[in-house]
Amino acid sequence: MDKILVHGGRRLAGTVRISGSKNSALPILAAALLTKETCVISRVPDLSDIHYMLTILSELGCEVERASGVVTIKAENVDTEAPYDIVRKMRASVCILGPLLGREKEATVSLPGGCIIGDRPIDLHLRGFEALGAAVRVQAGNVKVLAPELRGSIINLRGKFGSTVLGTDNVMMAAVLADGTTVIDGAAEEPEVVDLANFLIAMGAKIEGAGTRRIIIEGVKELHGAEHEVIPDRIEAGTFLVAAAICGDGVTLIRVEPKHLLAVTEPLAQAGFDIESGREKITIRPGATRRALKLDAHPYPGFPTDMQAQMCALLATTDGISVVTDNVFPQRFMHVAELKRMGANIELQGPTAIIHGVEKLGGAPVMASDLRASAALVLAGLHADGITEVNRVYHIDRGYESIDEKLNALGAEIERVKV
Ligand code: EPU
Repeated sequence: MDKILVHGGRRLAGTVRISGSKNSALPILAAALLTKETCVISRVPDLSDIHYMLTILSELGCEVERASGVVTIKAENVDTEAPYDIVRKMRASVCILGPLLGREKEATVSLPGGCIIGDRPIDLHLRGFEALGAAVRVQAGNVKVLAPELRGSIINLRGKFGSTVLGTDNVMMAAVLADGTTVIDGAAEEPEVVDLANFLIAMGAKIEGAGTRRIIIEGVKELHGAEHEVIPDRIEAGTFLVAAAICGDGVTLIRVEPKHLLAVTEPLAQAGFDIESGREKITIRPGATRRALKLDAHPYPGFPTDMQAQMCALLATTDGISVVTDNVFPQRFMHVAELKRMGANIELQGPTAIIHGVEKLGGAPVMASDLRASAALVLAGLHADGITEVNRVYHIDRGYESIDEKLNALGAEIERVKV
């Protein structure tokens, strides 16, 4: 198991190229199950979560080829039951349910357990499948969805924490091959949902309204092969913006979509940083002052829960009192205890972190608990005195393509050590 050593105190400057989006690529790869024809998906990031998804697709019987970010998938004949051993490693495996149900009218995966960022049910996904006419059975840890036929329906996918991203993806993927029209109300508006819809449209699906709260899908008889380029990863981009805010002297992100990042760049500007956005690029420079922030994570277009931990790392050394609330995953604060071990002054009150900015953090051995928490610890280490040793680094490799190499190219000093 690798660990990462961050030598604090280096300044970052220069240009970093943003990779394709993990959370777009995962459901888009699964959507290739909807046709017997070949799909070619480019700008697929090289991440362990992507590797798991490709393994699941191969195990289901797809022919899968991958060469420098381009994945070719042909799903001529497919099984409908995903192997537990791989599925248990990644919660996003649930997004094979929708396309398998759409195409084969049945699918089985193991029911995802809770995870470190909280209890993560799939009741809304299942509610959507039932509305399309599927029976749902939970047996021996597996969930099986089965429908003699799928019929278009009106479905509300809003839950108590707002919309569901993978739930919207899943229901949309099943509904494209249903009989008649499906209306998804309370749909997730995330850019990753729009990216999936665009891929499905390229495959011959009829979808309107992706990116709004109401998506309308007119079922078609079959889909065909298509080519698609995945959108830039707005969370990887946001993470580099925060790294540059913590210890940068001018960093430019390229191949990024600035309009997907407004909920991150606006608070950074409010905190005193100088942000300049152009076509596919964003530059961040230090401003004259730094200010504490009040942040509330909400579904898109709100401030993303996936950026909450990284922002806590920045605010830990920002003078004043910052207040950060996560309304999407109220328990997603495992990074707080680790940041406190580095000298941060943070108090947790339910879904809210109250952060009293300190001048400096100190390097310490810390434990990564999930993907974004590990990124936050690396970022905190960039500015800390001494060495921060981030253990269980496999979490970070699930969602960041070569984060250590990219940060080192900007001037950081990060070592990856095999243990
Ligand atoms: N929820 C339910 N019932 C459901 C589904 C969700 O109550 O059936 C709740 C969740 O427990 C949570 C909220 O609704 O409180 C939102 O969850 P959502 O379903 O939107 O999350 P997801 O689709 O499982 C995706 C991303 C996450 C990201 C969330 C929120 C992928 C592969 N994952 O998860 O990404 O945090 O949306 O934006 O797209 C990450 O990349 O680090 C990550 C965790």
